[in-house]
Amino acid sequence: MAEKISVLFTEEEVDARIRELGEQISKEYAGKKVHLICVLKGASFFTCELAKRITVPVSLDFMSVSSYGSETESSGVVRIVKDLDEPIKGKDVIVVEDIVDTGRTLSYLLEMLKDRGPESLKLCTLLDKPERRVVDVHVDYNGFQIPDKFIVGYGLDYDQKHRNLPYIGIIEFE
Ligand code: IMP
Ligand code: MG
Repeated sequence: MAEKISVLFTEEEVDARIRELGEQISKEYAGKKVHLICVLKGASFFTCELAKRITVPVSLDFMSVSSYGSETESSGVVRIVKDLDEPIKGKDVIVVEDIVDTGRTLSYLLEMLKDRGPESLKLCTLLDKPERRVVDVHVDYNGFQIPDKFIVGYGLDYDQKHRNLPYIGIIEFE
Protein backbone atom coordinates (compact mmCIF):
# COMPACT_ATOMS: atom_id res chain seq x y z
CA MET A 1 0.00 0.00 0.00
CA ALA A 2 1.45 3.34 -1.02
CA GLU A 3 1.64 6.02 1.68
CA LYS A 4 0.80 9.62 0.95
CA ILE A 5 1.71 12.30 3.49
CA SER A 6 0.27 15.80 3.20
CA VAL A 7 1.30 18.78 5.31
CA LEU A 8 -1.22 19.83 7.98
CA PHE A 9 1.00 22.31 9.85
CA THR A 10 4.36 23.51 8.52
CA GLU A 11 7.49 23.58 10.64
CA GLU A 12 7.11 27.38 10.94
CA GLU A 13 3.50 27.10 12.12
CA VAL A 14 4.41 24.49 14.72
CA ASP A 15 7.37 26.55 15.98
CA ALA A 16 5.20 29.67 16.26
CA ARG A 17 2.51 27.83 18.23
CA ILE A 18 5.05 26.25 20.59
CA ARG A 19 6.50 29.70 21.24
CA GLU A 20 3.02 30.91 22.25
CA LEU A 21 2.51 27.93 24.57
CA GLY A 22 5.92 28.59 26.12
CA GLU A 23 5.02 32.22 26.75
CA GLN A 24 1.67 31.27 28.29
CA ILE A 25 3.25 28.70 30.59
CA SER A 26 6.05 31.09 31.57
CA LYS A 27 3.46 33.71 32.57
CA GLU A 28 1.24 31.30 34.48
CA TYR A 29 4.18 29.78 36.39
CA ALA A 30 5.93 33.09 37.14
CA GLY A 31 7.91 32.76 40.38
CA LYS A 32 7.68 28.96 40.29
CA LYS A 33 9.57 26.07 38.72
CA VAL A 34 8.08 23.73 36.16
CA HIS A 35 8.68 19.99 36.13
CA LEU A 36 7.97 18.64 32.64
CA ILE A 37 7.16 14.98 32.19
CA CYS A 38 7.67 13.87 28.61
CA VAL A 39 5.65 10.85 27.55
CA LEU A 40 7.98 8.87 25.27
CA LYS A 41 8.47 8.54 22.44
CA GLY A 42 6.00 10.73 20.59
CA ALA A 43 6.25 13.82 22.79
CA SER A 44 10.05 14.00 22.77
CA PHE A 45 10.38 16.49 19.88
CA PHE A 46 7.63 18.71 21.29
CA THR A 47 9.00 18.59 24.85
CA CYS A 48 12.46 19.80 23.80
CA GLU A 49 11.09 22.70 21.76
CA LEU A 50 8.61 23.67 24.47
CA ALA A 51 11.25 23.55 27.22
CA LYS A 52 13.42 25.97 25.19
CA ARG A 53 10.55 28.49 25.12
CA ILE A 54 9.80 28.43 28.86
CA THR A 55 11.61 31.15 30.81
CA VAL A 56 11.00 29.95 34.39
CA PRO A 57 13.33 27.17 35.69
CA VAL A 58 12.53 23.82 34.04
CA SER A 59 13.37 20.29 35.12
CA LEU A 60 12.65 17.28 32.93
CA ASP A 61 11.76 13.67 33.42
CA PHE A 62 10.66 10.95 31.02
CA MET A 63 8.16 8.19 31.17
CA SER A 64 7.29 5.47 28.71
CA VAL A 65 3.96 3.72 28.74
CA SER A 66 2.45 1.17 26.47
CA SER A 67 -1.26 0.91 26.01
CA TYR A 68 -2.70 -2.48 25.21
CA GLY A 69 -5.03 -2.43 22.25
CA SER A 70 -5.22 -2.69 18.50
CA GLU A 71 -2.91 -0.87 16.07
CA THR A 72 -5.13 2.18 15.95
CA GLU A 73 -7.10 2.14 19.21
CA SER A 74 -5.81 2.09 22.78
CA SER A 75 -7.60 0.06 25.45
CA GLY A 76 -6.90 2.19 28.52
CA VAL A 77 -4.97 -0.60 30.21
CA VAL A 78 -1.58 1.00 30.50
CA ARG A 79 1.70 -0.66 31.35
CA ILE A 80 4.64 1.43 32.55
CA VAL A 81 7.62 0.56 30.38
CA LYS A 82 9.90 3.18 31.92
CA ASP A 83 8.96 4.98 35.11
CA LEU A 84 10.10 8.45 36.18
CA ASP A 85 13.62 8.80 37.61
CA GLU A 86 12.55 11.22 40.35
CA PRO A 87 9.58 11.61 42.72
CA ILE A 88 7.07 14.33 41.81
CA LYS A 89 5.80 14.98 45.34
CA GLY A 90 5.41 18.72 45.92
CA LYS A 91 6.35 19.67 42.34
CA ASP A 92 4.43 21.73 39.80
CA VAL A 93 4.14 19.12 37.10
CA ILE A 94 3.11 19.45 33.47
CA VAL A 95 2.66 16.21 31.55
CA VAL A 96 3.67 16.74 27.92
CA GLU A 97 1.99 14.53 25.32
CA ASP A 98 2.03 14.36 21.55
CA ILE A 99 -1.69 13.75 21.01
CA VAL A 100 -4.86 13.13 22.97
CA ASP A 101 -7.02 10.75 20.97
CA THR A 102 -9.51 8.57 22.88
CA GLY A 103 -8.06 9.96 26.12
CA ARG A 104 -7.71 6.50 27.65
CA THR A 105 -3.93 6.54 28.06
CA LEU A 106 -3.83 10.02 29.55
CA SER A 107 -6.70 9.56 31.95
CA TYR A 108 -4.99 6.47 33.37
CA LEU A 109 -1.59 8.16 33.52
CA LEU A 110 -2.88 11.35 35.15
CA GLU A 111 -4.73 9.41 37.87
CA MET A 112 -1.60 7.45 38.63
CA LEU A 113 0.56 10.58 38.82
CA LYS A 114 -1.99 12.38 41.01
CA ASP A 115 -1.57 9.64 43.61
CA ARG A 116 2.12 10.54 43.90
CA GLY A 117 1.27 13.90 45.46
CA PRO A 118 2.45 16.65 43.08
CA GLU A 119 1.74 20.25 44.16
CA SER A 120 -0.10 20.69 40.85
CA LEU A 121 -0.63 18.56 37.76
CA LYS A 122 -1.45 19.88 34.30
CA LEU A 123 -1.56 18.50 30.79
CA CYS A 124 0.00 20.02 27.71
CA THR A 125 -0.54 18.32 24.35
CA LEU A 126 0.69 19.27 20.91
CA LEU A 127 -2.45 17.90 19.24
CA ASP A 128 -6.00 17.20 20.32
CA LYS A 129 -8.50 15.08 18.36
CA PRO A 130 -11.69 15.87 20.33
CA GLU A 131 -14.00 13.94 17.95
CA ARG A 132 -12.34 10.71 19.03
CA ARG A 133 -12.66 11.23 22.77
CA VAL A 134 -14.05 8.30 24.76
CA VAL A 135 -12.79 9.24 28.23
CA ASP A 136 -13.04 12.82 29.48
CA VAL A 137 -9.58 14.36 29.91
CA HIS A 138 -9.00 17.99 30.81
CA VAL A 139 -6.41 19.54 28.47
CA ASP A 140 -4.77 22.64 30.04
CA TYR A 141 -2.56 23.58 27.09
CA ASN A 142 -3.22 22.51 23.51
CA GLY A 143 -1.14 23.24 20.43
CA PHE A 144 -3.70 22.47 17.75
CA GLN A 145 -7.16 20.98 17.54
CA ILE A 146 -7.22 18.55 14.62
CA PRO A 147 -9.75 16.47 12.65
CA ASP A 148 -10.03 12.70 12.92
CA LYS A 149 -7.11 11.82 10.64
CA PHE A 150 -3.98 9.79 11.29
CA ILE A 151 -1.08 12.12 11.99
CA VAL A 152 2.66 11.64 11.56
CA GLY A 153 5.72 13.82 12.04
CA TYR A 154 7.12 16.01 14.79
CA GLY A 155 7.52 12.89 16.93
CA LEU A 156 4.35 11.07 15.91
CA ASP A 157 4.72 7.77 14.14
CA TYR A 158 2.95 5.29 11.97
CA ASP A 159 4.43 1.89 12.83
CA GLN A 160 7.55 3.65 14.23
CA LYS A 161 8.08 5.56 10.98
CA HIS A 162 8.00 9.29 10.11
CA ARG A 163 8.69 10.64 13.63
CA ASN A 164 11.56 12.69 12.18
CA LEU A 165 9.45 14.75 9.76
CA PRO A 166 9.93 18.40 10.79
CA TYR A 167 6.27 19.21 10.07
CA ILE A 168 2.93 17.71 11.11
CA GLY A 169 1.36 15.62 8.34
CA ILE A 170 -1.68 13.53 7.57
CA ILE A 171 -0.88 10.04 6.33
CA GLU A 172 -3.18 8.27 3.91
CA PHE A 173 -2.93 4.93 2.15
CA GLU A 174 -3.82 4.31 -1.45
P1 IMP B 1 -5.35 7.55 23.48
O1 IMP B 1 -5.25 6.71 24.70
O2 IMP B 1 -6.33 6.96 22.49
O3 IMP B 1 -5.63 8.99 23.73
O4 IMP B 1 -3.97 7.35 22.76
C1 IMP B 1 -3.06 8.33 22.59
C2 IMP B 1 -1.83 7.74 21.96
O5 IMP B 1 -2.15 7.06 20.73
C3 IMP B 1 -0.88 8.85 21.58
O6 IMP B 1 0.01 9.15 22.63
C4 IMP B 1 -0.21 8.30 20.35
O7 IMP B 1 0.91 7.51 20.73
C5 IMP B 1 -1.23 7.39 19.70
N1 IMP B 1 -1.96 8.10 18.62
C6 IMP B 1 -3.26 8.49 18.62
N2 IMP B 1 -3.59 9.10 17.47
C7 IMP B 1 -2.46 9.12 16.72
C8 IMP B 1 -2.15 9.67 15.41
O8 IMP B 1 -2.98 10.26 14.70
N3 IMP B 1 -0.87 9.50 14.99
C9 IMP B 1 0.07 8.87 15.72
N4 IMP B 1 -0.16 8.36 16.95
C10 IMP B 1 -1.43 8.48 17.44
MG1 MG C 1 2.08 9.00 22.87
